[in-house]
Amino acid sequence: MNYIYSEVSSKKDFFGKTDPLYLAHAYGTPQYVYNENILRKRCRDLKGLIDYEKFVVNYSPKANSNLEILKIVKDEGLRVDAMSPGEIFVNLMAGFEPREIFYISNNVSEDEFRYAIHAGVKVSVDSVSQLEMYGRLNPGGEVAIRLNPGGTGAGHHKNVVTAGKKTKFGIEIQFLPQVRRILKEYQLKLIGINQHIGSLFMTGEAYIESAEKLLEVAREFDDMEFIDMGGGFGIPYKKQANEPRLDLRDLGGRLTETIQSWVKDYGKAIEFKIEPGRYIAAECGIVLGQVNTVKMNYDIKYIGTDIGFNVLVRPVMYNSHHDIEIYRESDVPSLKEEEVRIVGNICETGDIIAKDRKLPEIFEKDIIGVLDSGAYGFVMSSNYNNRLRPAEVLIQLDGQPRLIRRRDTLEDLARNFV
Ligand code: LLP
Repeated sequence: MNYIYSEVSSKKDFFGKTDPLYLAHAYGTPQYVYNENILRKRCRDLKGLIDYEKFVVNYSPKANSNLEILKIVKDEGLRVDAMSPGEIFVNLMAGFEPREIFYISNNVSEDEFRYAIHAGVKVSVDSVSQLEMYGRLNPGGEVAIRLNPGGTGAGHHKNVVTAGKKTKFGIEIQFLPQVRRILKEYQLKLIGINQHIGSLFMTGEAYIESAEKLLEVAREFDDMEFIDMGGGFGIPYKKQANEPRLDLRDLGGRLTETIQSWVKDYGKAIEFKIEPGRYIAAECGIVLGQVNTVKMNYDIKYIGTDIGFNVLVRPVMYNSHHDIEIYRESDVPSLKEEEVRIVGNICETGDIIAKDRKLPEIFEKDIIGVLDSGAYGFVMSSNYNNRLRPAEVLIQLDGQPRLIRRRDTLEDLARNFV
């Protein structure tokens, strides 16, 4: 195989004992490939973030909820959050105990609460009204509340900033008296408070600042079991340009200090959780696609692939950057670099994976790899245009590939018609 560009994946030995061309041939394209070794490494990075006995990492499976990925995360000793009954269901399938699952509900129905209560998972509520609904359904039960202490939040795009004054999430501090009234009325035990300021920060300032704010409020509640500071830990998407990593050592050191001094004051060594999704799953995933067409259209060179935004929506939805690699079967060299627009096969002009990117010449039948696609990749894929959702393949610790989710079939498209 010819590695035309770049070396990011080969330096990590991403494809183990196989290679992208073999994988494309064996499992078809488009295809999500995950590397188990990298996944495990990222779990360990975060488990070591904070030096505190009762520090817990809750993986956020909204980033990637493939059953095998969840099993590996569990095997690494992480726990898990959930955002829906479906996530609770799949987490249980992966072997997590109900008490290891933290359901962070948002605008849910009574039935969804009943499902969570029946499953025996821990529940956090997101508004005064939902606390009351929960209290009615589970009087005398345990509950956590998601707070939004204002501040600025953080995130790579305005739509993924989840704290501050412009978001639907969390309970404002001024409503705490009502929270207390409802807790009392339904004899609910407040077991924890949680927050999540947004997704993808590359420096820790906003996270630390909001954790401190949260801790200030937390002092007012006695005898809690945990505080959950949320996720959002960013990864460098521009590896080909040597983007630096988030400095976990610095962030972890500062959080450790903050937590230890808070716990001394509080008088009880409660659990501290974080809730990372992207940091755990993004870098272990690459989408492989095939170049079906190369064409010029009014001075723009289009590389037409089978990676439509039904496969990977991030570039279209958030204008997100993903590095691109090129793999070639033949030994035809790319003699020039040129600016190209890499697009998919969906019937929309906005179906662009990489806009005006300078890359070595790409030919039809080349395989391209879209890097760092393990988080918010497959989970956000769809059957738009009645396209089939891709297969998922795991490069195991022994370097061998294993199919961990088959590609949709045409029959899958018809399955729910009645
Ligand atoms: N906890 C809660 C309550 C969340 O809402 C989220 C993400 C997480 C944890 C995990 O955040 P992470 O560590 O992955 O940043 N689809 C977007 C990201 C949306 C994130 C939504 N909430 C993307 O592709 O960038």
